[in-house]
Formats: sequence, C-alpha cells, structure tokens
Amino acid sequence: MDLFSPIKIGNYTLKNRIFMAPMTRCRSVQDNVPNDLMATYYAQRASAGLIISEATQISTQGIGYPCTPGIHTAQQVEGWKKVTQAVHDKDGKIFLQLWHVGRISHSAYLDGELPVAPSAIKPTGEVYTLEGMKEYETPRALTIEEIKKIVKTYTQCARNAIEAGFDGVEIHSANGYLLDQFLRDGTNLREDEYGGNIENRSRFLFDVIKAVTAEIGAEKTGVRLSPSGTFNDMTDSDPQKHFTYVCEKLNTFDLAYLHIIDALEGDIKHGANVVELSMIRDVYKGVLITNGAYDKERGDAVIENDQADAVAFGVLFLANPDLPERFQTNSELNEADPGTFYTQDEKGYTDYPVL
Ligand SMILES: Cc1cc2nc3c(=O)[nH]c(=O)nc-3n(C[C@H](O)[C@H](O)[C@H](O)COP(=O)(O)O)c2cc1C
Repeated sequence: MDLFSPIKIGNYTLKNRIFMAPMTRCRSVQDNVPNDLMATYYAQRASAGLIISEATQISTQGIGYPCTPGIHTAQQVEGWKKVTQAVHDKDGKIFLQLWHVGRISHSAYLDGELPVAPSAIKPTGEVYTLEGMKEYETPRALTIEEIKKIVKTYTQCARNAIEAGFDGVEIHSANGYLLDQFLRDGTNLREDEYGGNIENRSRFLFDVIKAVTAEIGAEKTGVRLSPSGTFNDMTDSDPQKHFTYVCEKLNTFDLAYLHIIDALEGDIKHGANVVELSMIRDVYKGVLITNGAYDKERGDAVIENDQADAVAFGVLFLANPDLPERFQTNSELNEADPGTFYTQDEKGYTDYPVL
C-alpha cells in the first residue's frame, strides 16, 4: 500500500491517500463570502483524494483573521456552492473545516466585544488586524449557557455545509483555537463541568461531536487535533495522557476520520511533551490522517508501515495544484511563496503552474 492506494472514508471510496490539508488563504474579501476565485483554486486541486477546506467561521464571534470565509449566512452557503460544484465537476471530494478561534481574535473583529475563551487568560503575542498588529486582549470566559449555544451553532453550520454541497465536515480542534483552548490545562482553568480533569475539559469537544454527528452522520464527520502543538501559545502539563483519553473516547463515534498534526513546519520534535503518531495509532482504531512536513517519501513510508491511513499535505498542495500527478511521475515541485499565503488576489493563489 502507498499514497496511491484508494481508501474508504465513511461511505466514500477516495481515489488516493494524498489529501489537501486545510489552509487559510484570506481570499473571501467580500463579507467573508466564498467566491469564484476560490472555486477555481479548489477545483485546481481536485485530484486530491480529499480536500479539507480552509478553516471556516461558524459565527461572527469565531472570526480572528481578515477575509476568511464563514458558513453561517445564506450568502456564504451560496458562495460555497460554487466551490463544491467546481470540485465535484472535477471528480473531487471536499470537507469543510468548522472553526471558532476563541481567544485568538481581537475586539477589532468583534464589533468592540472581547474575544471568548474557556478562561480569562490572555495569549502572549500579537494579532494581525486590518489596522495593524495589536496586542492580544484578555478574553472573557464563556458561561455554560453560551457553550451550549455554541454547540448548537456548530450543528447548524454542519447542516449548512451539507446544504452547500460539502461531502462532510472536519471539526477544528487543533492549533490553539477554541476547542483546543478547552482541551489544554494551560488555557482552561474552569471549575465547572467544562474544566478541571480531561474528562471535563474535553466535554465541549465531545458535545460538539455528538451534536454534529447526530445532525449529519458520523460517517461525514472528521476531527482535527494537534496533540503536540504549541502554536497560539498552547501549553499542557501532560499531552500524552490527555490525548490518549481523547483518542480513546473518539473510538466510540465511528467518525469518518481523525486528523493529526504530527509536526509543524518541519520541526519534528521528540520528547516527553510530544504525542508520537505511533501512540495515537495504538489508541485510535478508525481512519487516521497524519500531517506535518511530509513529502512523497515519508508519506509512502508512513502508509507502508501502517502508521497512518492517509497523509494531508499543506504547503506542497498550495504550490502544486497537481501534486498527485507530480508524485506519481516523480516530477519537480513548485516552490511556495509565503509572501502570498494570506494576500487577497490570484497571485500566489491560482497561478501556480501545472506540469
Ligand atoms: C498558509 C497556511 C494556512 C493554514 N491554515 C490552516 C487552517 O485554516 N486550518 C488548519 O487546521 N491548519 C491550517 N494550517 C496548517 C496546515 O493545515 C498544516 O498543518 C501545516 O501546513 C503543516 O503541513 P505541511 O507541512 O504539509 O504544510 C495552515 C498552514 C498554512 C501554511
């Protein structure tokens, strides 16, 4: 078995195991609505076994970056229809990544309101806003009632995603955003049933998973975790123990997949605070996608050695719309231009050449 072996995910048989990782590209310039340019970009990459869309807001409260798309207005649903249609026309499959940034926002994005979080703990660092870089603010802790409302918002947005033609959704519980903020004991100091031990800290995530799978089906629902991640000022006293608990419990849902960020930007760390892919593989019994600085060789090896079922490629897919063909023919790869990752037009977006 290798990257080119077909794979079954939920009820879909996918043509290869070369998936496109979710990537924020900031091209939803008008009212956070997906547009024709985005349809072109995703359709160019439809030879992926599965595309996972860029992170997509479930509400205005969930916004933390400019020009990122949402899935909570009728206009946004209509906009996404263009994208899913274009991908399906080229025989691709696409899941939508559901996103709430929590404290990784700023009142400049939130009509003057403070960002929300499990606890009132300010992230170190600065947030990019259209008025320039600003220091993060101390967020406001969510009430239990608000948490329950946000669960409903996830559910509605999962429904919206299916209406917009997506083949499924990925619940974004990685990279220091809202659900990850609840999971970690560095950011969650709550003393109610959503804080304290890992059973409580993961309650929000599992509430969301229960509600979303009941709404659209577990076979159309994936989850993304970054057990070893420190991005967005995440800290955790014992990620091995905590994520073993989470992954064990995920087994009870029969999800489409679990998607793990195994390393970030080539920085493959090892040590006590790292949750190795092999640990996740031992605990989690369903389809496992791995991601993080993979190339063709490492990707083939991880599948051959049965350490994962599929590999998501981020930057390589961004710069190579025809990545599977390039892998198959051992062709040279385009270099990505980080200067255009988050700009607002076609340059560095839809103009990477194919073979
Ligand atoms: C431009 C860019 C935007 C990203 N946006 C997201 C995102 O919206 N959601 C997410 O879960 N990860 C996001 N990531 C992380 C990637 O999905 C992936 O984990 C990371 O790039 C490592 O994989 P790679 O080495 O194959 O690129 C982003 C990465 C990049 C480079």
